[in-house]
Amino acid sequence: MIELAGVSKVFPTASGERVLALHDANLSVKAGEFICVVGASGCGKTTLLRLIAGLESPSTGTIKVNNAIQTGPSEKIGIVFQDPTLLPWRTVMDNVMLPIQVLKLDARRFRDRAKELLAIVGLDGFANKYPHELSGGMRQRVAIARALVHDPAMLLMDEPFGALDAMTRDQLNLELLDIWAKTRKTVLLITHSITESVFLADRVVVMSPRPGRVVEEIAIELPRPRTLDMINSDAFGAYVRHIRGRLTNVPAAQLQVAS
Ligand SMILES: Nc1ncnc2c1ncn2[C@@H]1O[C@H](COP(=O)(O)OP(=O)(O)OP(=O)(O)O)[C@@H](O)[C@H]1O
Ligand SMILES: [Mg+2]
Repeated sequence: MIELAGVSKVFPTASGERVLALHDANLSVKAGEFICVVGASGCGKTTLLRLIAGLESPSTGTIKVNNAIQTGPSEKIGIVFQDPTLLPWRTVMDNVMLPIQVLKLDARRFRDRAKELLAIVGLDGFANKYPHELSGGMRQRVAIARALVHDPAMLLMDEPFGALDAMTRDQLNLELLDIWAKTRKTVLLITHSITESVFLADRVVVMSPRPGRVVEEIAIELPRPRTLDMINSDAFGAYVRHIRGRLTNVPAAQLQVAS
């Protein structure tokens, strides 16, 4: 479904220097897989996601999505950005419907789906509210509904729950796994939390500090459906310790080890 081969990304900066954000990144994701990416702040995670989404082009290497070279944004992909980026002057419903408008799809066909998604993310009855009337967690749920409304085969999520308290985060993690189990989308989710990555993923991809490379991929063989009590199991703890060990050359301040 996603195939990165030898992907590097260099950004020119305002001062004329060049920043190597990603270096020789290789990654292969199968359809229906749930992948989490962990790595220190600034190691190139958002860059990786933007490249896969077709919002940036690689400096070297190739990115294939569904066996075709990625050339630009695609309706097969839904994205949840690092902050919810809702349009303040549009209602919740109109925010969720934004991709339909941008992709010039028939709004009448998708309104029911938008309502259904709002119910799934626990926002029944909020369709006509405005973003400023919602809590941070609720806004993030709107962003998730918006990413799913056009039924993309793939969901890319950039630290979607990073700004939330631990309880809301647990709740949304469970909801996300539920949506994934029902729809079997391919999910690539970036997180700072090692615990979250082990809880959600089939496979955790560990990146090195900048310039980011994939240093290890760890298959998480915990049973599904995952439940919160698994977090206290020995097997879960062993995965967390292993991943933390792979990230130990990273200054502690850059890592939020667990949430
Ligand atoms: N458009 C850009 N122009 C110049 N430099 C950029 C640009 N986007 C990212 N960078 C640089 O590339 C590097 C990787 O940035 P990126 O946003 O991918 O990191 P990240 O892993 O997502 O970090 P965080 O965990 O803090 O979100 C950083 O050094 C950043 O300064
Ligand atoms: Mg980022």
